[in-house]
Amino acid sequence: MMWKVVIVLVAALALASAQNQPTGPQTCSAAGVQSLDWNNTALFGRWLEVARNPLGDAPACLEFNVGLLLDNTTLSINASHSSSIASLYSNIDETAKVVLTPNATTGYNVTFYQDNAAQPPVFIKLLQLVNNTYVTGCGYTDPNNANTSYGFILALQGKYDAAGIKLVNDQAFPLYSNFQNNSYANITQAGCYKSSATQSLPMISGILAVALLLIKAY
Ligand SMILES: *[C@@H]1O[C@H](CO)[C@@H](O)[C@H](O)[C@H]1NC(C)=O
Ligand SMILES: *[C@@H]1O[C@H](CO)[C@@H](O)[C@H](O)[C@H]1NC(C)=O
Ligand SMILES: *[C@@H]1O[C@H](CO)[C@@H](O)[C@H](O)[C@H]1NC(C)=O
Ligand SMILES: *[C@@H]1O[C@H](CO)[C@@H](O)[C@H](O)[C@H]1NC(C)=O
Ligand SMILES: *[C@@H]1O[C@H](CO)[C@@H](O)[C@H](O)[C@H]1NC(C)=O
Ligand SMILES: *[C@@H]1O[C@H](CO)[C@@H](O)[C@H](O)[C@H]1NC(C)=O
Ligand SMILES: *[C@@H]1O[C@H](CO)[C@@H](O)[C@H](O)[C@H]1NC(C)=O
Ligand SMILES: *[C@@H]1O[C@H](CO)[C@@H](O)[C@H](O)[C@H]1NC(C)=O
Ligand SMILES: *[C@@H]1O[C@H](CO)[C@@H](O)[C@H](O)[C@H]1NC(C)=O
Repeated sequence: MMWKVVIVLVAALALASAQNQPTGPQTCSAAGVQSLDWNNTALFGRWLEVARNPLGDAPACLEFNVGLLLDNTTLSINASHSSSIASLYSNIDETAKVVLTPNATTGYNVTFYQDNAAQPPVFIKLLQLVNNTYVTGCGYTDPNNANTSYGFILALQGKYDAAGIKLVNDQAFPLYSNFQNNSYANITQAGCYKSSATQSLPMISGILAVALLLIKAY
């Protein structure tokens, strides 16, 4: 069931790509989705947010585990992160459900729940998949204010390095105004730890879901 949904998503992304041929860096609201090398198999895994521009008050240890509910259209997203940029203790867990809209190019408003309490919604849009290892996207920390937009880079756990992040940024900044030449902040992932009691096994991850989660990093 997973692969079917992923194929729908990929089709949606490819369609958006065909409709949007940017002539210069696009804003987050205007940007279409660019399909570079979509590979369905590559969409599964455990994704970390490794870079963001601007960093804002994004915490460290941002991680997203994503699965699909049995209706085949609702993403279940489990996110975790620390309480601040300075902490490596990933003690904040959040969940969200996102109903996917086939062929949507508008991005998603996502509400995360922390201890059953709804957090302010965030907006996110996935833009590129690079080498089956990185995803670029953009979001607003406040869905009502495009001035709060930022760009982000996700990477599969264990498959990224500093040079790769730079290359991904090099590809993104000519296309999307949320990315800038040689200017982005690393999100700290090294040394992050969790309480063993609250640790949950990673499940299937989807690229879209990952992007959605990312947003939460306000
Ligand atoms: C979800 O997809 C699987 C595999 O394609 C299918 O067997 C199942 O009936 C689908 N469920 C729904 C609710 O559409
Ligand atoms: C898709 O990605 C998987 C995992 O990265 C890889 O094993 C596979 O060879 C890729 N397939 C294609 C057609 O690129
Ligand atoms: C999210 O966490 C819940 C509760 O621990 C679990 O039942 C669900 O399978 C998890 N989903 C994913 C995608 O990891
Ligand atoms: C999504 O776009 C594809 C390609 O244009 C099309 O085949 C498919 O029917 C669309 N799906 C929906 C639900 O609009
Ligand atoms: C997200 O929420 C904002 C503010 O409520 C709204 O203007 C926008 O249309 C929503 N976007 C989507 C894709 O639902
Ligand atoms: C966004 O920024 C523009 C230009 O700085 C400003 O004119 C506008 O009022 C801002 N919008 C909000 C909602 O802050
Ligand atoms: C993607 O793969 C190509 C070909 O192997 C390589 O030249 C490029 O550096 C890779 N990009 C990243 C971001 O790793
Ligand atoms: C990016 O910045 C480097 C210096 O940091 C510069 O050499 C290069 O020309 C810049 N590229 C673009 C496309 O502006
Ligand atoms: C990000 O971290 C890498 C090392 O992992 C370092 O080379 C690079 O300069 C850092 N970038 C920033 C903007 O801090």
